[in-house]
Amino acid sequence: MQPSLAVAAQPVTRERFAIHDAAAAPISSFAADVRRGLTAAPKFLLPHYFYDALGSALFSAICELPEYYVTRAEDEILRERGAEIAASFGPAVRLVELGSGSARKTRHLISAIVERQSTLEYIPVDVDAGILTASAHELLTDYPQLSIHAICGDFREPAALLRPHLPPSDERTIVLFLGSSIGNLDPSESGAMLANLRTALAPGDALFLGADLRKSPSILEPAYDDPLGVTAAFNLNLLGRINRELGGTFDLASFAHRAFYNETAGRIEMHLVSRKAQRVLIDGYEIAFAEGESIHTENSHKYDDATLRTLANAGGFTIEQRWTDRNGYFADLLMVAR
Ligand code: SAH
Ligand code: TRP
Repeated sequence: MQPSLAVAAQPVTRERFAIHDAAAAPISSFAADVRRGLTAAPKFLLPHYFYDALGSALFSAICELPEYYVTRAEDEILRERGAEIAASFGPAVRLVELGSGSARKTRHLISAIVERQSTLEYIPVDVDAGILTASAHELLTDYPQLSIHAICGDFREPAALLRPHLPPSDERTIVLFLGSSIGNLDPSESGAMLANLRTALAPGDALFLGADLRKSPSILEPAYDDPLGVTAAFNLNLLGRINRELGGTFDLASFAHRAFYNETAGRIEMHLVSRKAQRVLIDGYEIAFAEGESIHTENSHKYDDATLRTLANAGGFTIEQRWTDRNGYFADLLMVAR
């Protein structure tokens, strides 16, 4: 027998969906950021450029890898404790999400919230317009209670993006920042980002933050260097994107993915290492690589209680509740704006 639907399906109308493009001149800033990073010593590239259409698809594949425990650990928390977490948010909320991506794990929280209130406004923010639109349409189809204002933009300065979409309201604003995306920022940047976010919130509003916890390198390193090579492909796609969008001449086969745990800094570092001495042309200028020279493409910081407390304080938030998975690999924290 077919299960009966409690709420009739609602069409995805303009009233329920809007997307706002807040990315200022994205191509020219990509070109400028690539040039700045590849002419610096040591060389670096900024991690939000991983996420073009191919990059987002590869990240979805990373989330399925047996070695990448991060997604499964957080999914377990949100699935098993969703009702309790939604209760901690309170009786009437609007939901912002930074770096929402596929929003797969978010569904556990949305399901729990719409058990408690009849409608829900969801404001996802992501740099990848494609995944933002696709995930919004899937959510609107499955949750007739939702209306979505999606924002395509850079979450590193969230206040300017969010302020126009957060008029004063009786609803408590809850900002989700899942998947330990916070860890891809350096400690000074992450503190500054939360402080900036805080200025768009009212006292009592909250940040719900996913943070990957410190653990043995024997668990951490395979999560960022899997034997199938999916993470290597994700990392190398950054060079492919430079070729596609900026006319670069990178030979992807002559760069190697390298990921290791830097114990002192408490972070996984990801690099692309040149397998030989070579020159690459990008849009009229030339970049020289020595054999073994690396491009630092990303950090993924790992947290403990002390670093989480420092982060919350830097942003003007107080940690009120904390949930972990059974292995104790990952934590989600309710941080309330002071
Ligand atoms: N929240 C999801 C996705 C995490 S992957 C999860 O937990 O699985 C990180 C997501 O953030 C991607 O969808 C990427 O496009 C987006 N992203 C990364 N850096 C960003 C930035 N600076 N501004 C906005 N979105 C960003
Ligand atoms: N926020 C994710 C993390 O640090 C992003 C991520 C996972 C990632 N795997 C990656 C980024 C591999 C670059 C390469 O876990």
